[in-house]
Amino acid sequence: MQALPETLCYLNGEYLRLCDARVSVLDRGFLFGDGVYEVLPAYGRRVFRFDDHMARLERSLGKLRMSNPAASGEWLERARRLMAAQPAPDQLVYLQVTRGVSAPRDHVMPADIVPTVFMMTSAMKPPTPEQRHHGVACVSARDFRWARCDIKGTSLLGNVLARQMSADRGAVETILIRDGFLTEASSSNVWIVHEGALLGPPKSELLLEGIRVELLRELCEEEGIAYNLRPIAEADVFAADEILLSSATKEVLPVTTLDGEPVGHGALRGKPGPVYGRLYEAYQRAKATQCL
Ligand code: PDD
Repeated sequence: MQALPETLCYLNGEYLRLCDARVSVLDRGFLFGDGVYEVLPAYGRRVFRFDDHMARLERSLGKLRMSNPAASGEWLERARRLMAAQPAPDQLVYLQVTRGVSAPRDHVMPADIVPTVFMMTSAMKPPTPEQRHHGVACVSARDFRWARCDIKGTSLLGNVLARQMSADRGAVETILIRDGFLTEASSSNVWIVHEGALLGPPKSELLLEGIRVELLRELCEEEGIAYNLRPIAEADVFAADEILLSSATKEVLPVTTLDGEPVGHGALRGKPGPVYGRLYEAYQRAKATQCL
C-alpha cells in the first residue's frame, strides 16, 4: 500500500494531516454510503465556478434530507486554507458530508444527527498533452446503476464497477447506455456533436447534472455553437461526428475511439474535431475569469 499523504485536510472543525484523520466505523458514510460530495477544480489556488458547486451541494443534501453544515463563505475559507498548504497551484478540492455516526446500525435516518464533514485537496491531474492532441479511447456499457444518479452521493459502487470496465481495456471512460439511450459516463458527462451542434442528454434522475452542463451552454452561446439537451439514442452516439467528455478534471476532452472503432467521419475520423477545439479554447478563457 502507498504511504498516506501528509497533506493538510479538514475534519469536523479541525485541520490535521490526512494520514492522521480518523472517522468512526459507525459513520453512516462508511456503513451505508449515506453522504454527498463535491469535487471542485481550482486554478492558481482559486476555485472555478464555486457558486455552481455550492448550489449542487445544497441540492444533493436536500435530496438526502440533510441541511448544509456550513455557509458558502466557510467552505471557501476552508478550501483556501487547505490549498495554501499544497505546493501545486492547480488543485482539486474534495468535500464530503455524511449523515454522521448512528448506533445501532439502522437504515432509518436518525432525527438528530451531527454530520461528518471532511475536506481535502490534491494536485490536479489534467489530461496529458497527448490525450488532448489525439483524443482518448472509451468503451460503452449498459447503465446498470440505480435510478437516482442525479444525487452526487458517495455510494459510488455502480460508478466504480463501470469505470473498471474501461480501465481493464486500457480506456479512459465507460460511456453508459440505459434502455437504448445515452446517460453519462462513470465519472463524466458525455456529449455528441451532430451537424455542428453540441447535444447532451436531458436533465433527469438518471444522470448527474455536471457543473459543466451549464458552463458548456454558456460557452456554446459565446461561440455561436447550437446547444441542445435531448434524448440521444445509442445509434446516434456511434454515428456522432464528435464525442466529448466533460468533468471537473477533464474539462472537455475528445473521445476518438469508442469500443475500438474510430469516432467521426471523413478526414476527421479518429481525430479530435473542430467543436472540441473551440470549446476547449473557450473553456481556457472562462478559467481565466471565473475563479474565486
Ligand atoms: N465526477 N457524472 C458523474 C457520474 C460524475 O461523477 C461527474 C464528476 C460528472 C461531471 O460533473 P462535473 O462537471 O461537476 O465535474 C458527471 C467527479 C469529478 C468525481 O467523482 O471525481
